[in-house]
Amino acid sequence: MADIDKRLRQLCEQINYHAYRYHVLDDPVISDAEYDRLIIQLQQLEAEHPELITPDSPTQRVGGLASDKFPKVRHPAPILSLANAFDGDAVRAWWARISKLAPAGRKVSFTVEPKIDGLTVVLHYRDGVFVQGATRGDGIIGEDITPNLRTVKALPLRIPVHDGSRRKPPAVPARLVVRGEAYITLANFEEINKRQQAAGARTFANPRNAAAGMLRQLDSRVTATRPITLLTYAVVDTDGLLPRAQFELLEYLRALGFPVTDIARRFDALDAAIAYADSWVDKRARLPYEADGMVIKLDELDLQAQLGVVGKDPRGAIALKFPAREATTQLLDVGINVGRTGVLAPNAVLEPVNVGGVTIERATLHNFDDIARKDIRIGDRVIVKRSGDVIPYVAGPVIGARTGKEKKIAPPKTCPFCDTPVERRAAEVAIYCPNRDCPGRLDRQVGHFVGAMDIEGMGAKIVQQVIESGLVRDVADLYSLKRDDLLQLEGFADKKTDNLVAAIAASKGRPLSQLIYALGIRHVGGVAAEALAAHFGSLSRLLKARPEELESIEGVGPTIAASIVEWTSNPRNRDLVEKLRRAGINPRENVGTAAKAASGPLSGKTFVITGSLTQPRDEIAATIKSAGGKVTDSVSKKTDYLVVGESPGSKLTKAEGLGVTILDEAALKRLLAGKR
Ligand code: IVH
Repeated sequence: MADIDKRLRQLCEQINYHAYRYHVLDDPVISDAEYDRLIIQLQQLEAEHPELITPDSPTQRVGGLASDKFPKVRHPAPILSLANAFDGDAVRAWWARISKLAPAGRKVSFTVEPKIDGLTVVLHYRDGVFVQGATRGDGIIGEDITPNLRTVKALPLRIPVHDGSRRKPPAVPARLVVRGEAYITLANFEEINKRQQAAGARTFANPRNAAAGMLRQLDSRVTATRPITLLTYAVVDTDGLLPRAQFELLEYLRALGFPVTDIARRFDALDAAIAYADSWVDKRARLPYEADGMVIKLDELDLQAQLGVVGKDPRGAIALKFPAREATTQLLDVGINVGRTGVLAPNAVLEPVNVGGVTIERATLHNFDDIARKDIRIGDRVIVKRSGDVIPYVAGPVIGARTGKEKKIAPPKTCPFCDTPVERRAAEVAIYCPNRDCPGRLDRQVGHFVGAMDIEGMGAKIVQQVIESGLVRDVADLYSLKRDDLLQLEGFADKKTDNLVAAIAASKGRPLSQLIYALGIRHVGGVAAEALAAHFGSLSRLLKARPEELESIEGVGPTIAASIVEWTSNPRNRDLVEKLRRAGINPRENVGTAAKAASGPLSGKTFVITGSLTQPRDEIAATIKSAGGKVTDSVSKKTDYLVVGESPGSKLTKAEGLGVTILDEAALKRLLAGKR
C-alpha cells in the first residue's frame, strides 16, 4: 500500500509539473501522448484505490456538481481595489501627494505591471496544497468557487511546482493566500462569441463577463471545458517570510510555480515607470488578454503597507488606464445578413467613428433579442466597443442623448431578401429565414458546397461573380457553367477558366458522404453525412428515407432525422437532387473508409464530439479519423472518449454516467499528438 501511495504521489507530481510546463511556461518537455499516458496510469491507479485520491491530484481538475449556491468565504485581509489615473500627470500628482507620507530620504522604486481585465480570485494554499479559491465579492466576503478554480489548468494544485531547473524553489509557508486575475484570452473570447452567435445563443459583452460567467458556473464540469487561465500578482496573507519588494514578490510567486506576467519591469524614476506604462498603449494588441491599463506600484512593500488605504484603494499603487477602445456615434440604420443556415443577423450602420485608432462604420448587433434587451433604436447615439481584434459591437444606447425622434427596431416578420415569414426556433434567440433558396444566402450555400466538394480555385469572389451574373441560381448550376460564360466575367482568362471548369468537373466524382454534407442540410455535418452515405449508398435512397429508418442509424438522432425529413420533403430540394443527377453527379459509395484509417495513434478508439469547439466539428472528426479513430454521433458503452466544447449538454451527462473519458480540445490535441 505504501508503495502504491508513493507511486501515486510521484505521478501527481510529474503530471502537475508537465501541466505547468505546458500551461504556464508554454514549454512542454514531453509529448502530449506521453502526458496522456501518465494521466491514464494515474486514473487507473486511482480507480483501484479511490481512498488514496488527494485534492491536488490532476484528475480532480475535471470538476463536479456544486451543491447549490456558492458558499461565502471571508477574506483573510480586505481585497482592495485600485485608484485610477488617466495620464502621466495624474500619476505624478499621486506621487507628489504620497511621497510626503513616506520617510524622508528613503530611496524608492516602482514596479509596473499590466492591469488584466479579468476576475479577481483569492487562492488559499495550506502546506502547499490548493485548498480554497474565492471571488473578490465585496472585498471582504467572496464566493467559494474552489471546484471551478480547480479546473483552471494554469492554477497550481500543489506548490512548489518543480520547474525542472536545479534552482531550489523557495520554502513553502504553511499558509499562503495569493491574489490573481482569472481571464480568457481575446482570441478565445472572440471565438466563443462567434459560436454563441452562430448557435443563436446569448453573446458575452466582454472577456471579463465571459470569464466571470464561466467561473461562476454551478457545474464545474462545464467550467472544466472552458479556456480560463490565470495570472497572479500579490500575496494577501501568509505566515511565511515574503520578499521585501513587489518585483521580487513576482519572482517569488513565479518560483513557486504560479503564472506571473513577464512584462513587469522595475524603475528607480517615476517618469521612466510612466514612460514604460505608456509604451504599452500602442503595444497592447500584443497582449493576448484584455488589459485596461498598467499598474504602477511602489516597489517597497513595507512602505506600501505603511501608506495604508483610502476608501477601498491602497495608497501605494495606482492604475494608469489605457485610452478606452470605445466611442459613441450615431446609429444610422440596421442591416441584415443571412447566414448559411438562415440566421438573420442584424448589423449596425454607423456614422463613421474612430475607435482606438480604427474607423468603424459597421458593428455587430448580435441578434434582435439583444437589441430589444438593450433598447437600441435607430437614430440613437450608441456606444461602440472594440477589444483587441474583436469585431466591433454596439454595447448600448446613450439614453440621455435621445431626442424623441429615434425609431424602435422591430425584428422582421419576413425575410428582407425573399419575403418568406421568419421562424424562431425553440430555446434560440436567433430568427431564421427558412427559405433554403433565399437569395440572401445563396452565396453562403454555394460557398459551402464549393468548400465541401473541394472545388479547387473557386474562392468567395468567384462565387459572388457567378451568382451576381445570374449564371448560378442553385448549387447544381455550377455544373452547367460553360467555358464561354466564365470567360465573360471579369478577371477570367483562358487558363483560369479551364482550370475552374476542370475543377468543377473533378468534383463530380466525390464520395457520396461529401455530397450529402455539401447539400448543407441543417444539423448534418461530416460525421452524420458519412453515416448516412454508408447506410443508404445513394442520394435517391436517402430521399426516400423515413424518420424511423434514419433514427436507426448509429450517429443519427431525432434532431438530425427530423431535419433530413424536412429537407427531403421540400419539392425544391427534390428537384435539386434530380438536377444534380442529370448534371452527372455520380457519387461513389462510401466503402472502406474505416479500413483505410485503421492504423494511427487513435486506432480502435471511438469518439463522440459535442458542444461547440474552436474548429468545425467536421474538421476535428477528420483529424481523429486520420489518426485511426472512429467518430460517432451518440454516446454509448462503446464510446471511448467524449470531446467537449462549449455548452456540451446531455451527451456530457450521459458520458459521465458511463465513465467515458472526457477530453477538452487541448487534451484531444495531446492525445493526437503521438506526432507532436
Ligand atoms: S494590484 C493592493 N495588480 O484591477 C493590490 N490589480 O481596478 C491592489 N488587477 O480589482 C490590486 N491586474 O483585481 C493589481 N497587476 C495587477 C492587476 C490588478 C488586474 C485588478 C485587481 C483590481 C482591479 C482594480
